[in-house]
Amino acid sequence: MKITTKINILTTAWLVFILLIMNVLVFFTFMKTIGNIEERFLIQKAHEIIKKTENQGSRVLTKDLLEVYLSDHSFIRLVDKNSVVIKQITDDQDLAKVKAEFSPKEESELRQIGEEQFQFVRVPILTNQTVSYTMEIAQRVSGLEVKKDKLLSILAACSAITILLSLAGGRLLSNVIMKPISRMIRTMEDIEQSGVPKTIFIQNQSKDELYTLANTFNRMISRLQENIERQKQFVSDASHELKTPITVIGSYANLLRRRGLKNEKLSKEAIEAIHQEAMRMQKMTETLLDLASSENETSLHVKKVNLTQVCESLARQLKSIYKREILFHQDNPPVVVEADELKIKQVIIIVLDNAIKYSKAKIEVTVRQREGQAFIHVKDYGIGIPEEDVAHIFERFYRVDKARSRETGGTGLGLSIAKIIMKLHRGDIDIKSREGKGTEVELRIPIFYQTTQEV
Ligand SMILES: Nc1ncnc2c1ncn2[C@@H]1O[C@H](COP(=O)(O)OP(=O)(O)OP(=O)(O)O)[C@@H](O)[C@H]1O
Ligand SMILES: [Mg+2]
Repeated sequence: MKITTKINILTTAWLVFILLIMNVLVFFTFMKTIGNIEERFLIQKAHEIIKKTENQGSRVLTKDLLEVYLSDHSFIRLVDKNSVVIKQITDDQDLAKVKAEFSPKEESELRQIGEEQFQFVRVPILTNQTVSYTMEIAQRVSGLEVKKDKLLSILAACSAITILLSLAGGRLLSNVIMKPISRMIRTMEDIEQSGVPKTIFIQNQSKDELYTLANTFNRMISRLQENIERQKQFVSDASHELKTPITVIGSYANLLRRRGLKNEKLSKEAIEAIHQEAMRMQKMTETLLDLASSENETSLHVKKVNLTQVCESLARQLKSIYKREILFHQDNPPVVVEADELKIKQVIIIVLDNAIKYSKAKIEVTVRQREGQAFIHVKDYGIGIPEEDVAHIFERFYRVDKARSRETGGTGLGLSIAKIIMKLHRGDIDIKSREGKGTEVELRIPIFYQTTQEV
């Protein structure tokens, strides 16, 4: 069953239930009010008659007096303490046969006689502060059945109109509400059939739950599109980058096959080139795998890391391996962050490796802490990066000078891996550089790792 039909049926059922209760309430209140009016009217009439006789100074009720108050299908009678009728005037002989009742207090009742309903009232008459007689008046309640029928038909008609309007309104409303959902379902079906992710057009600007739903869906799709794009780019970049060494290896192998073995110098050169390119390919494949795993990584093995200690020991190790001047500066006390130690080490090595590769003078490493963030600065006084290239160096396979990078053995993947790792830590990496003067890399890591990320 469609959700719109379900909403419609449920709201209408609820409305019918409410209408039923309201109709019963209205009906009984109305009938009671009508009865009360009749009753009050008769009691008033009884009091008037009693008062009239008092004014005349006697309790003798004359027929003439009573006839003035007699209406259709009624009686007025005086009843003594033994419920014996003392005096009675009536125009309805059947009604007059009803047994008289003495009552010491004012009372009223509605009585069914045959097909008709009659209102009875009894009002006590006092003589010297004691009740001596009862004035009993009965009268047919005229038109009650007609009023009742009319009321019932009005209530039925109003209820039917309300239910019809509710059904129509409910249908309209649920269509309005369901429209964005239907659109979403259609888009999802399209995506399923075509395999191409696409976003939903959001018309509704009222920032309600449906807007949030569509917005979340669109954000999810955008991410998916980005990922697909990145994957495509990755495959094309990687195949393009691997093509060059393969071409070099292929051509040298061909050269060797044709005439290399006879020419010792040539064969040495060819073997050297093939070896170099093979090594480069090996490094590149390893880095590519590393990059792919960093991109797919969503969780980190976070623990407390003494950043000062890590940087100092890495600087010391590289200093002795490369025989370079690497100076280490630190803030007191040591900077401790929540991070994935191995990954952070990887980033520092990538940055230090660049500084070593692209400079000859000293390298300075600084660790400090400011406003909930840890900062690592790696500064070199080397060849620097031209201004127009700085914006691109985080792109995969981007190298400022391809020939030079070939010499230095770079793949152009180091900084893109560093960027991914820093983003995973909700931190970042920035580079300031001046060509011919040197480069300064800034790594920022929040002291406390936040597991939730705003989307
Ligand atoms: N400290 C630096 N000084 C000068 N140029 C730099 C420096 N760091 C990076 N670069 C430039 O940015 C480019 C990209 O650096 P990245 O580390 O991503 O790749 P790579 O060093 O060429 O290769 P690898 O993947 O082996 O690290 C480098 O090729 C280089 O041209
Ligand atoms: Mg590098």
